[in-house]
Amino acid sequence: KMNAFIGGLMKKMTIDEKIGQLNLVTGGMAITGSVTNNGIGEGVKKGSIGGIFGLYGTADVRKMQEAAVNGSRLHIPLIFGLDVIHGHRTIFPIPLGMSATWDLGVIEQSAHIAAKEATAEGLNWVFSPMVDIARDARWGRISEGSGEDPYLGGKIAAAMVKGYQGSSLKNADAVMACVKHFALYGGAEAGREYNTVDMSRLAMYNYYLPPYKAAVDAGVGSIMSSFNVVDGVPSTVNKWLLTDLLRSQWGFKGFVVSDYTSLNEVTNHGLGDLQTVSALAIKAGLDMDMVGEGYLKTLKKSLQEKKITIADIDRACRLVLEAKYKLGLFENPYKSLDPKREQTEIMTQANRQAARTTAEHSFVLLKNENQILPLKKTGSSIALVGPLADNKRDMLGTWVIGGEWEKSVSVMEGIKHLVGENVTINYAKGSNITDDTTFMKRLNFGPGMVSLDKQSPDEMIEDAVKAAKKSDVIVAVVGESQSMSGESSSRSDIGIPQSQQRMLKELAKLGKPLVIVLFNGRPLTLTWEDEHAAAILDVWAPGTEAGNAIANVLFGNYNPSGKLTATFPRSVGQIPVYYNHLNTGRPYTSGPTKFKSDYLDISNDPLYPFGYGLSYSKFTYSDVQLSKSQLKGSEMLTASVTVTNNGPYAGEQVVQLYISDPVASISRPVKELKGFQKVNLQTGEKKTITFSITPQQLKFYNSQLKYDWEPGDFYIHIGFNSADIKTAKVSWAK
Ligand code: IFM
Repeated sequence: KMNAFIGGLMKKMTIDEKIGQLNLVTGGMAITGSVTNNGIGEGVKKGSIGGIFGLYGTADVRKMQEAAVNGSRLHIPLIFGLDVIHGHRTIFPIPLGMSATWDLGVIEQSAHIAAKEATAEGLNWVFSPMVDIARDARWGRISEGSGEDPYLGGKIAAAMVKGYQGSSLKNADAVMACVKHFALYGGAEAGREYNTVDMSRLAMYNYYLPPYKAAVDAGVGSIMSSFNVVDGVPSTVNKWLLTDLLRSQWGFKGFVVSDYTSLNEVTNHGLGDLQTVSALAIKAGLDMDMVGEGYLKTLKKSLQEKKITIADIDRACRLVLEAKYKLGLFENPYKSLDPKREQTEIMTQANRQAARTTAEHSFVLLKNENQILPLKKTGSSIALVGPLADNKRDMLGTWVIGGEWEKSVSVMEGIKHLVGENVTINYAKGSNITDDTTFMKRLNFGPGMVSLDKQSPDEMIEDAVKAAKKSDVIVAVVGESQSMSGESSSRSDIGIPQSQQRMLKELAKLGKPLVIVLFNGRPLTLTWEDEHAAAILDVWAPGTEAGNAIANVLFGNYNPSGKLTATFPRSVGQIPVYYNHLNTGRPYTSGPTKFKSDYLDISNDPLYPFGYGLSYSKFTYSDVQLSKSQLKGSEMLTASVTVTNNGPYAGEQVVQLYISDPVASISRPVKELKGFQKVNLQTGEKKTITFSITPQQLKFYNSQLKYDWEPGDFYIHIGFNSADIKTAKVSWAK
């Protein structure tokens, strides 16, 4: 039915109208006035625009959709997109934080709530999930993904696609997802934004491509090409990537959109002028051009000059029209334009509650000496200090176009709300986010505007020290502000900014328990903090309900269960540092050695490994029990451990399964995540956790890029993080 409908429509379309469908324009960020004023309305009526992004709100979207449906010759509806990344109006934790929940249900629900809110404001399409594997915390966009692991990344990618797209794209509350940035964007050299990526096919297939593939397998409707080169050819014009791999090997049926002006930027990459690169792109398999107008301005000319064929344009046009068809926009172009929903379905109590719960699950307890946390709810005094303590602007994190920071809950508000007058709060800001004015200027983008306080840095620290002297415990809310991570936010020094470190150092001298509540969009280097703080609670950027969620965890209403999905290095010099590395020919084992793969001045171990995160309770696990020690062919192995909660609180634990393949035709990682289960245990309770393992989990891409497993011995590891595991050995014959 779809083929016949689109075929019939395309027969009526002129070349200009077909090219128009490939043109995505931006309606600005939060435009509420008449968008026809900036020329978009005219383009829509002419049929030279296929979609608009950055425009939402039922009144404005309706105006534009009416211009398309009533004003254009063929009445083709527009598709409306937006960067809805971790919630639309109700903001959830940044994706790196969300991944630390290791809870696919919670993650899928967050995407579904985002879809409900986005559609209630007229949107059909979101530029999410971002699934770029990242092993370099200098890269600011590590905050937007799910960390370093391909298996976990793939599971999260699929959960998000499901959450956004629902059971049918025609549903009133479903949006089309757009997996990005295809491909390998997280592998940018030196962690520098938009930088070169140069990687072996083996690394691509085994570590970087699986999450994009998982999104495709989950039925994602669209894909965004990345800014970087892949094998020397920019992704946006890379035929191997966009056609051979994506369509021929993976069977992707949706459409591919460029990143913002990434088509025009191919000229800077050195592949020719706009006409040349646009022709390359359409031939490579890029269907829609985001804002650059390369297609609009040059494709017709290239067709006349026989540089491209009408079949190239038809293919792209058909795919864009199919997306609109799948969304039900031809049946009802106004399907998401119900002003009642806009009033009733946005930032509901239920949505805020879900954001709060998700945030609580995302926090990672990095240290908790002498069980200083949870804090007492009555009869104590707290020095609440730090530039992020009484601060609403920085609660939401990066990419929050629809997010309203004014509606977020600060840490101060959350704590006061929870403990009322029962705990004395002595507040002092204590430091600026940064005292470095050059750095500050770079940060002043988005809601999290950073400025210098009227007081001098020394006066601010003095106030914090005074507050601390009057208090039993110090809670310092410090770290990265909203715009310190995300796009174009690479950092070479990934510590807490100096201004805040100075304050922490003065506070540490007082000898009182120092609890750090850490805001961060990336792994940070925290060796000093780990040595001197009594507790560190990593809260990422928690979203709208930040303060309430933080208070709930600090005071023990929720027992932290988050686990890191990206390794925390000891120093920038260790980067890239990730758990699933290869063995070397001279692996470091222990003690001071020479001529081993190590550093003279620092250990190889990270500060906090992948999968790490503490609980207020104490969990233990038994040895690994295997159902068999010798297997053959497609037999199934079960591996189990018994997990016991020996501590004083009920809580959750993420039980992690890793497998290693010590002898193979290529060097294989020392271990790889192959399964995980989140288990909830009351105090004293024990449960046996069982993983089923088949040869499917032993497969990898070999030198011929054949995906298969090789017989031999395997180590099955189960534990609470990638460095805290117990191991059993199994032999598996073909
Ligand atoms: O979706 C984003 C992308 O992640 C980075 N460049 C801009 C796009 C649209 O806003």
